[in-house]
Order: sequence, then C-alpha cells, then structure tokens
Amino acid sequence: MSNTVNYGLIGCGMMGQEHLRNIALIPGARVAAIFEPDAAMATAAQVIAPQATLCATLDDLLAFEPLDCLVVVAPNHTHADILEQIAAKRPLPLLMEKPLFTDPADGARVLAIGENYAAPIWVAMEYRYMPPVQTFLSQMQAATGGIKMLTIREHRFPFLEKVGNWNRFNRNSGGTLVEKCCHFFDLMRFILQSEPVRVMASGGQVVNHLDETYDGEASDIWDTAYVIVDFASGARAMLELCMYAEGARFQEEISAVGPLGKIQALVPGPGRFWPPHLGDPPVPQVVISPRHPKGPQIVEIPVDPALLTAGDHNGSTFYQHHRFNAAVRGAGPVDVTLRDGERAVAMGMAAQQSALEKRVIEI
Ligand SMILES: NC(=O)c1ccc[n+]([C@@H]2O[C@H](COP(=O)([O-])OP(=O)(O)OC[C@H]3O[C@@H](n4cnc5c(N)ncnc54)[C@H](O)[C@@H]3O)[C@@H](O)[C@H]2O)c1
Repeated sequence: MSNTVNYGLIGCGMMGQEHLRNIALIPGARVAAIFEPDAAMATAAQVIAPQATLCATLDDLLAFEPLDCLVVVAPNHTHADILEQIAAKRPLPLLMEKPLFTDPADGARVLAIGENYAAPIWVAMEYRYMPPVQTFLSQMQAATGGIKMLTIREHRFPFLEKVGNWNRFNRNSGGTLVEKCCHFFDLMRFILQSEPVRVMASGGQVVNHLDETYDGEASDIWDTAYVIVDFASGARAMLELCMYAEGARFQEEISAVGPLGKIQALVPGPGRFWPPHLGDPPVPQVVISPRHPKGPQIVEIPVDPALLTAGDHNGSTFYQHHRFNAAVRGAGPVDVTLRDGERAVAMGMAAQQSALEKRVIEI
C-alpha cells in the first residue's frame, strides 16, 4: 500500500456522503471509487468527492484498481448479500455500516463469512466515538465504582426520508430496535463488558407514520420502546426510545450508577436541526454525581466545529475513520468486530420479539 489509502464506497446516500466528508479530513485517505445506483445521490457524492470514479455496478467497483479498503453504506437489507459478494470477489479491509443484517436467519451466514475473510472487518458503531461518550468511558469506573445500572435514553426526531423509503418497513430496516437501537445495544455490551442473558421489551408505532402508505402498503415502523436487558455480570441496562421528542435539548442521555455514584453523558442531536433563533446548538456534557460528598460536577465537552460540519454524529464518524484507517494500514486494532455487530443485531431482534410476543426472551 502506498502512503495513501484508496477507499471504495458502496452506497452514497445521506450517511455515505457523511463518510465521504469525513474521509476527506483523514490524512492519507482518498475516495477512489463510488458505486451509487441513484442518479441524484451519485451526483451529490461526486460533488463531495470529484476525484472518485463512479462505477455502474458493484462488480465494476470490486474490479476497480487501485482500492485498499471498502465502506458499505447501502440500505440495511442489502448488507448481508453485499458482504457475501465482497468476500467472494475482493475481500479488502472493510467498514460495514450497521445493522449487519435484517433477517434473523442471516446471523450465522454473516459470522461464517467472517471466519474465512482474510482482511479486517469493522462494523460501524459511531456512538462509541462521540467525544462525550469517550469521556464517559474513561471516567465511568472511577465515578461509579462498577456499574450496576445503565440507562440509555434516546429522545429524537422521527426517521428521515430515505432513497426509495426503504426505512419505512421493518422487512428492510430490520425493525426500529435493530435499525436504530443496535447502536445502544452495542454500547451496553461495550460499557458493561458483559454479555446479555435476557431481554424484556414493550414497543410499537404510536405517533409517527400512522397515516403513511407506500404503494398502498402502510408503514409498520415503531417509534416508541422500553427495553430492559439483564447481563451475565449481574448488571442491568435499560433503553428508552422515543422518536417524537425532537424538542428536547439533548438527544441521548446515557446514565450509569454504581456504589460510588453516578455518571451521565448528555449528547445533543444534529446541530443543523437546532433552530437558529435559539442561539448556538447545545454543547455535549458529562455530569459526575458522587454520593459522598454530594456535589454534581458538570463538564462541557465541545466538539471540533469542522467535525460538526462534516456530519450529524458529534464528530464520531471522523474519529471512527481515523481508527479504521490505522487498522487498514495494519497500525491499529479492529475496535468493533463482526461478532460485536452480530450481537447488537441479535439483542435488537430479541427486544422486538419480546415486545411482539409480550414475554421475556432468553439469549
Ligand atoms: N452509524 C450511523 O450512525 C448511521 C447513521 C445513518 C445511517 N446509517 C446506516 O447507513 C446506511 C445507509 O443509510 P442512509 O441513511 O444513508 O440511507 P439513504 O437511503 O440516504 O442512502 C442509501 C443509499 O444506498 C443506495 N443503494 C441502494 N441499494 C444499494 C445497493 N444494493 N448497493 C449500493 N448502494 C445502494 C441508495 O441509492 C441510497 O443512495 C444504512 O445501513 C443505515 O442504517 C448509519
């Protein structure tokens, strides 16, 4: 590999374009080729990465020279098949967007592909890399003395419109608790360093999308959920998801409590959605609240404005790419493995099954 890592992008809609903008900020990284089937999205991608060659098919991209790594940012239901095609034709170092798969039957298939894949595969879990989450991770043990209860609340805006409206149907997205919430199930496993053993959930479609139909078919995506997860370590975790709460100051609130005290990370949503008449968008915070002596300490964790402009995820896409680039060069580890990606989807699927069948699911 030369000093420059050449990237091939597969899918360049909203998130693919965020990847393009962030790869452009990484020294020694260059997007060389793009496969994007939608003409308008391909044009938008070409504006961000004018040096890249637009390929007409996935096969064309996989035959393109030079490429050093691939990034898959296509819709959820295409991920497992695209992974299989890549493994068969050009198993380069790979960054796969979440969720890894949408059909429960594909978990074993995806893991089997990984067993024989000679290069690193990294599953995109941006939330791990948000600066307030990084601070939370570095302080959580000292602040809590060992986490016993972990709560992740996401109060956000409704699902955005996507190319071909793929995210309006569970069969394409995997369902809301897989599509969105695999991030949070990954965070639970990562923060607690333990495996889930049982899941109990309640959820449904309550406020959004109630009147939406596409070619006569009603959207079935959920916007509301509570999920409780027991971990092998004895720790308990809970997710609260509400997708009609975009008026809130913070989008994610992660709180962990142990015998010594409590720590919270408060994460705002995309700054571009913050109304200008309210002034500057909120700055992320970490709050540490010891039990003895009492006295919560609030620390602001500002994110580099250049990184905020490059995406909707508090700079995390940049930090993830920075580390992925090192892994491609053989100079760093794969932080989020295929197994991590598979477990996060399995937890989301267990939560959906629990809510549908109104029972506890053992994992
Ligand atoms: N990690 C995160 O924080 C995060 C955030 C947003 C989206 N995502 C993930 O990124 C992926 C894309 O989401 P999006 O919001 O950009 O959706 P989008 O609809 O805006 O973009 C998807 C793009 O993929 C293209 N596409 C469709 N079929 C394809 C195929 N077979 N091969 C290649 N390209 C194909 C579409 O034309 C479209 O432009 C999804 O898997 C989503 O879950 C992750």
